Amino acid sequence: MTTNRLEEVRRRHAAAEQGGGQSRRQRQHQEGRLSARERIELLVDEGTFEELDKLVRHRCRDFGMEEQVIDGDGFVTGWGYINGRLIYVFAQDFTVFGGSLSESNAQKICKIMDLAMNNGAPVIGLNDSGGARIQEGVLSLGGYADIFLRNTLASGVVPQISAILGPCAGGAVYSPAITDFIFMVDRSSYMFVTGPDVIKTVTHEDVTKEQLGGAMTHNSTSGVAHFLTPDDAECLRMVRRLLDYIPQNNRDDVPQRPTNDPANRQDPELDTLVPEESDRPYDIKQIIHRVVDDGDFFEVHEHFARNIVVGFAHLDGRAVGVVANQPAHLAGCLDIDSATKGARFVRFCDAFNIPILTFEDVPGFLPGTGQEFGGIIRHGAKLLFAYAEATVPKITVITRKAYGGAYCVMGSKHLRTDINFAYPSAEIAVMGPEGAVNIVYRRELSEATDQETVRREKTAEFRERFANPFVAAERGFIDDVIEPHETRPRVIGALRMLATKVTHLPRKKHSNIPL
Ligand code: HXC
Repeated sequence: MTTNRLEEVRRRHAAAEQGGGQSRRQRQHQEGRLSARERIELLVDEGTFEELDKLVRHRCRDFGMEEQVIDGDGFVTGWGYINGRLIYVFAQDFTVFGGSLSESNAQKICKIMDLAMNNGAPVIGLNDSGGARIQEGVLSLGGYADIFLRNTLASGVVPQISAILGPCAGGAVYSPAITDFIFMVDRSSYMFVTGPDVIKTVTHEDVTKEQLGGAMTHNSTSGVAHFLTPDDAECLRMVRRLLDYIPQNNRDDVPQRPTNDPANRQDPELDTLVPEESDRPYDIKQIIHRVVDDGDFFEVHEHFARNIVVGFAHLDGRAVGVVANQPAHLAGCLDIDSATKGARFVRFCDAFNIPILTFEDVPGFLPGTGQEFGGIIRHGAKLLFAYAEATVPKITVITRKAYGGAYCVMGSKHLRTDINFAYPSAEIAVMGPEGAVNIVYRRELSEATDQETVRREKTAEFRERFANPFVAAERGFIDDVIEPHETRPRVIGALRMLATKVTHLPRKKHSNIPL
């Protein structure tokens, strides 16, 4: 090998590592953001990153681009390991043309996505990009479409995780939107299809970047993002943590984590956690924490639709997905956002063989024109559909209310849930006693001289007859009424029994979930 050739290799590698130059890198740091390479270093196990296509260059010869050629073209792609598990990663370098997507670096992303599919490993995208590279026109758009296709084909085959670590626009938000989980960094990352300036021109609305597409906006209002993190480093730590709960691919078993938390651990505190008064709120997360291994619950979509709680945990050392109505917020009712949130999570778990544990305390669907006009019928049906379609082991624990359609939706026996438990405090009926009496005894109430006494008596009668778990248990809709302190051993017992579960869906091209 000639010295010249060796020098050229080194020079090109070094140039690729410089990205868009020192002043742009400084600006990146001044804004509290790490560089693409620093991010990858924090993401993967030390020394495990293997880069591909470091010497790829863009091929644009318009708008003076021929004068600005940077090895690697700003995207860093390759593979590495997280806690010893193979992952593929790409990181967009904002210092090179704003992290924009060229034809060449679209091909770089496609290459690692193809490898991920062939080798059955997650793809992690570290996004920091102004979208399609304007100078490349349709070549860049075509590159995005190539990525979108791969995102879609990979959906349900390998987990896809997106971290949004800077201002992301256009294609740089649509590719993450197709992936399974989106992380954002507070006051440092943004997602929008059209930015504040375009909005001002078209709709005359004044909106800041933060209000429009900031991390909190997407975590709490739009529900586009699933995780809110304080800075790049914590974001990457959270991405690593998420992998503890999800398998490598859709043929893999769920991750296992050794625990010293005994499977037969009972918890007397659980016996008093659900208030006796059926309209008193309580925090369902307290129950989740007390039941799962080591009290460790990794919540997903924490700030969005807080009337339903979803997230991952381990039970008996094996990962599970947890879905729970939250009585501490909107009484735990189902509405458009909570149904969509729950459905998406259930479908992720089902796609990746993760058993679903449901805690149910739901007074029903939220009434109102806002909900009806917004399409609660369609959106509520998503959750129903997701639960019905899911073939993974499913266990439901009714802690208190299971009223109306919400009873059916939240992992009822009728939707092929394998094991259904109820606490003695469970109330399983078409509707609450007060509402039921108003309808069933309308005539008696209007004719009664002492309406209040009749109402009180009928309500008490109704509550005694229906607002309990026994009618459902007598029919076998509930497999057992359990005492709250025994929740963990009973759920683990059921999970062990279901470890070999196999259920199939009828042959079809795909289902048609109400979108
Ligand atoms: C080429 C770009 C670029 C782009 C930014 N840059 N976006 N170069 N193509 N899309 C360059 C800038 O020229 C600048 O170069 C450097 O990146 C940093 O950009 P700034 O504007 O200085 O940074 P900032 O103020 O932080 O603003 C970031 C930004 C803004 C909000 C992302 O740059 C922006 O609005 N960019 C355009 C976004 C957009 O409309 N993209 C196309 C979307 S359409 P210098 O040399 O000065 O450092 C799309 C189609 C896909 O993506 C299809 C979807 C379905």
